[in-house]
Formats: sequence, C-alpha cells, structure tokens
Amino acid sequence: MLLGVNIDHIATLRNARGGVEPSVEKAAEIAEENGATSITTHLREDRRHIKDEDVYALISKLKTRLNLEMAMADDIREIALDIKPYSICLVPERRQEITTEGGLNVADQLDKVKEFIKPLLDAGIIVSLFIDPDERQVKASAETGAQFIEMHTGAYSECYGYEEEEYEFLKLKKSAELAQSLGLKVNAGHGLNYENVHRMHEIDGLHELNIGHSIISKAVFTGLSKAVSEMRDLIK
Ligand code: PXP
Repeated sequence: MLLGVNIDHIATLRNARGGVEPSVEKAAEIAEENGATSITTHLREDRRHIKDEDVYALISKLKTRLNLEMAMADDIREIALDIKPYSICLVPERRQEITTEGGLNVADQLDKVKEFIKPLLDAGIIVSLFIDPDERQVKASAETGAQFIEMHTGAYSECYGYEEEEYEFLKLKKSAELAQSLGLKVNAGHGLNYENVHRMHEIDGLHELNIGHSIISKAVFTGLSKAVSEMRDLIK
C-alpha cells in the first residue's frame, strides 16, 4: 500500500505569519525522502492554505507525483490543465467547513461530474473521486470515466475504538470490493492516524492512503525537542 502525504497544514502554519516558513517545498522533499509515494495538496477556492504559486513550485520540484485535490471549479480546473499533475482528486467544498466534511455526491450529479472531468482525462490526468463508502456513490463513480475513487475514511476514523467501528469499517471494505469489481482502483483517506490506520490492511487491493493531519501533528512533537535545544544552545 502506498502513502500519499498531504502537506496542506505546512501551508496553514506558514500563512499564519504570512512569510515563507515553513516551506511547503521542503516539506514535500522530506516526505519524499522518507517514503511518500505522492504529495497531495488541496488548492481550495478560498486559498486558505495552499496557494497557486505552491502548486506551480511543487510540480517542477517533486520527484514523485502530485495529487491535486480540487472542487468542481472552472478556475481551479484551468490551473490543473496548465500544470498537469499526475492525478487530481475531486472533492466537495464548502467555504465554512474546517476540512472536507463528506464525500462528493456523484450519484446526484453524474452528468455534471462527467462533463467536468472530461478535459482532465483528455489531458492524460488521472482522476479520482472522493466519495463516501456507499454503494450508490461507488456505482455512479464507475460510470464517470474516472479511474480511481478515494474512499472517505472520516466516519471510520471517528468511530475507531467505539461500537460503530465495525459497521463503518465494513462499509469501506464492501465499497472497495464493489469498486474493484467495477474496474475502479481504490484509495482511501481522511482522519487516518497512527492508531486506526492498521485496519486498512484488511481491505484487499487498496492502492494508496492519503494522510495529512496526523503526520503533520506528529511531526511537531517528534521535532520540538530538537528545535528547542538548538535554540537553547544558540542563546546560551
Ligand atoms: N483525502 C482527502 C480527499 C482530503 O480532503 C483530505 C483532507 O484534506 C485527506 C485525504 C487527508 O485527511 P487528513 O488530513 O485527515 O489525514
């Protein structure tokens, strides 16, 4: 199973000061050096973390693959067609949300999704649809021409360790089986962390996991002691 690292929160931290640190490109480089098989960024319509210049910089520097998350917005699609990432992942987007809260409703807007992704597919960009692990959404996704789905693991992650875990996990497992039987490749992500990720191995054929928040959060504490002691040494 491959690991895509989402580095959006490096940009969140950078933007808090409006400068250039911490560098998104450096974060991508470190992730790649340590086993990331792709780098994921979400160019949101409100540009709250990743900015246009970040995706242009990343596309020229990455050694692996850029997976660009995007909503069904024409101006973002123009950027995708310009930079040609390896893949895009179509996500729903609401301005007020803190993070991507649910999967894309492909089933109720099949023609719109098909029309939106056609130029991307024609340009040779792989298309993934971020959907809830739901039979209707999986079947609709298989009709769009997209090669991948990414299953939203948020509900599973939230229930992990509670009674509903098994129910949410089985939805993921069954959706992955259905998707694969319909010719789709399957990724998964959202809310996965160091405790709950192990169950993804129980789902046959999962291609790649996209993980951001838990990795960046852990990085703060694995790096904080060194950061403090280095500064302590400098000011002694
Ligand atoms: N996959 C998709 C489509 C997402 O929108 C996100 C969050 O940006 C992730 C994966 C990663 O989620 P998390 O940051 O919770 O690991």
